[in-house]
Amino acid sequence: PKVAVIIVAAGSGSRMGSAEMPKQYLNLAGKPVLTRTIEAFVQSDAVRKVLPVINDKHETMFADLGLNDAKLLPAIFGGADRQTSVFNGLNALKDEAPDIVLIHDAARPFVSDELIGKCIQTAATFGGALPALQVTDTLKKANKDGSVEQTLDRMAHYLAQTPQAFKYELILKAHQSAATADTSFTDDASIAEWAGLNVKIVDGEPNNFKITIPQDLDRAEMSLATPME
Ligand code: C5P
Repeated sequence: PKVAVIIVAAGSGSRMGSAEMPKQYLNLAGKPVLTRTIEAFVQSDAVRKVLPVINDKHETMFADLGLNDAKLLPAIFGGADRQTSVFNGLNALKDEAPDIVLIHDAARPFVSDELIGKCIQTAATFGGALPALQVTDTLKKANKDGSVEQTLDRMAHYLAQTPQAFKYELILKAHQSAATADTSFTDDASIAEWAGLNVKIVDGEPNNFKITIPQDLDRAEMSLATPME
């Protein structure tokens, strides 16, 4: 299949506490996080095009990464929330008309070639693919006061990762409907789910974590120092 990748990198990184330098531009053992993430997809033989979606305030920082590859499309600007950034990316791919689109967080630089391949295959078969980790701790539901209400079945609950993969036409239609809905969504699998699409879970990877808070950066540096974590 013809595969395109949208890398959403338009967030401001407020939880990282480094407002002037958002997390996706931070240097990770000699290379910016976003460079690592983009290279992971550009280097995959299964991938034809890679589209970065960036914040308009980061235009110079992005240019300074000096990325250059035949597979790399010119970056476009994202929106006020992740959902809008992805929707902008999907609309920008209309001319490419990919069969499958992968949507990936810039803040997950350790995605493996194997996981990329599994997501593509699963989306081609079922329409949608979500890499996720089964919850290993006992899972509690609590009320707003922090009192436990219920113990949930941990075997039935997963932590969602990216890249989330979909047949392009299906996720484009789902996003078009979601753009006019009142609900806001934090990932694309929830938009697919809301639109009634089939999303199949594939085994995620523990090392494919998202760099969100400062401690994650330490973990990322350790992971690079010991690749077989
Ligand atoms: O905020 P969160 O960590 O869930 O963001 C996930 C990804 O979405 C990040 O890579 C971030 O840069 C991106 N994002 C975006 N546009 C926004 C907000 C977040 O592309 N407006």
